[in-house]
Amino acid sequence: MQFIKIRRQIIFYATKLIIIICNPVAKIQKLRIIEIFLVTLCPKIHCKHHKNLALATLNDEIKRRRTFAIISHPDAGKTTLTEKLLLFGGAIHIAGAVKSNKIKKTATSDWMEIEKQRGISVATSVMGFNYGDYKINILDTPGHQDFAEDTYRTLTAVDSVIIVVDVAKGVEQQTRKLMEVCRMRNTPVIIFVNKLDREGRDPFDILDELESELKISVRPLSWPINIGAKFKGVYNIFENSLDLFTPNKQTVSERVEITDINDPRIDEAVGEVDAKKLRDDIELIDGVYPAFNEEDYLSGKVAPVFFGSALNTFGVKELLDCFVKIAPSPGETKAEERTIKPEEEKFSGFIFKIHANMDPNHRSCIAFVKVCSGKFERNANYKHVRSNKMMRFAAPTAFMAQKKSIVDEAYPGDIVGLPDTGNFKIGDTLTEGEDLHFKGLPSFSPEMFKYIENTDPMKSKQLEKGIQQLMDEGVAQLFINQFNGRKIIGTVGQLQFEVIQYRLLHEYGAQCRWEPISLYKACWIESDDAEALDSFKRRKHQFMAVDKEGRDVFLADSNYVLQMAQSDFPKIKFHFSSEF
Ligand code: G4P
Repeated sequence: MQFIKIRRQIIFYATKLIIIICNPVAKIQKLRIIEIFLVTLCPKIHCKHHKNLALATLNDEIKRRRTFAIISHPDAGKTTLTEKLLLFGGAIHIAGAVKSNKIKKTATSDWMEIEKQRGISVATSVMGFNYGDYKINILDTPGHQDFAEDTYRTLTAVDSVIIVVDVAKGVEQQTRKLMEVCRMRNTPVIIFVNKLDREGRDPFDILDELESELKISVRPLSWPINIGAKFKGVYNIFENSLDLFTPNKQTVSERVEITDINDPRIDEAVGEVDAKKLRDDIELIDGVYPAFNEEDYLSGKVAPVFFGSALNTFGVKELLDCFVKIAPSPGETKAEERTIKPEEEKFSGFIFKIHANMDPNHRSCIAFVKVCSGKFERNANYKHVRSNKMMRFAAPTAFMAQKKSIVDEAYPGDIVGLPDTGNFKIGDTLTEGEDLHFKGLPSFSPEMFKYIENTDPMKSKQLEKGIQQLMDEGVAQLFINQFNGRKIIGTVGQLQFEVIQYRLLHEYGAQCRWEPISLYKACWIESDDAEALDSFKRRKHQFMAVDKEGRDVFLADSNYVLQMAQSDFPKIKFHFSSEF
């Protein structure tokens, strides 16, 4: 140790001497040369110190990150809650009334023209902001069920989820479906019961419904004092405090600090009758629901429940404060080859979304990369595993909805936008050299199919490009019928056809029309027996297609036909998702 100290001091004074001797004008360049000299002289000290520092920073950065998605059935209040969270993070500065049309029109999570026209969130946007010591990344998801695939893919990039439920409507269809995806991946879930300022269902009934419909145990961490017109506030079970609510005001009117549920200040604040009811309710909750266990939440077994009103910014801060404390920081990611830990030194990440032409003024395309491990650095060389090419990104971006800014570095949990000119596909991996293929970004067999036809022969190139980019983005799936060469688009819902037509016209200047085709399912087929596969393809040549990767797909026009094919050709394997 002593030796190192002395050596450092000698180097320090020697450096000073050299600087004095040298011309002060060129000081900076000379300092650089000296630094290089020092690194060469004591490479071990320098490298070790540098490496330890980098690892410590990486670990700290991972620990402070919270990457999550807010999901709900349309109209439950997802957009409103997102905006309120952004307000607390100082990421937007429009206080209060999201309800006003002016603000709604410029809603930070709305990107696309079509979204404004239809009033539904089509695109998945990413919003990052700092809250206290935490870095929060919210991945917004399209509310409409026709864009379910987009949401499923987004859920592969998050570490936890907040589900918004309308107190009057309870659990709705879309919420149920999305919960299934969360359950498949054991994603930790927090539930926010919204619109307590409106008349709704009894909170205990809501809790029962959440458990039975979402098939997850629940644990209330806040509790409302009345609802609707008589709504007085939320008792914060997690923090043991009381927030009062005054109708017509857009803020929490008063925070009553209490020592426990029997504190007489509660009686003063809400009146004896409501205070007694609150105490009875809390007693019942403590009797019925086991105490909150963080591990059960993190393993996806228990969902903490919060109550509030997003529109009135009520119960939102309580949710956010608890969320940052209990929600997981970025975890491991499974690749085909091995499991990747976020704290690994080397960078790796995967593309979960591609968005073409986000900015109508520039015909740009952005690939969204979730950083899985190590530090992503601007201008570093990374391997694009599918093409086996090295790539360098001079202008990677971080997102604040429509505002993007160039980032120099990003850590696990962060989402980075990479300008793309058609190199990327959903599911692609970037690494520092290792061949990794991340799992869990499958395409499912679509539910609706239509032939797409060009209506403007002068624009066939534009149409080709538009279709290709939209498919790479994952908007829908393309199959080419091998019998007649016609293009078939497969979607989850009718709305996607309208979006494709709209975007082709507005972003690519190409016009198309849809023609009906009666199909039941698209199945990816394979066989170990090449002859059996050939014979199947010959027999079913009218129903054979290839997907955009060139894989064989059997287009079954009815369940009966599919079952017959399965029994007649036992050597053929039929898959209903592209990942097999
Ligand atoms: P979404 O993204 O889940 O589809 O829902 P969004 O936030 O757009 O909210 C849907 C509607 O519910 C909006 O009203 C919104 O103002 C309202 N809302 C959200 N949170 C609350 C709440 O806590 N209390 C009450 N009373 N209403 C709430 P809208 O009439 O559809 O839109 P707008 O015209 O008011 O903007």
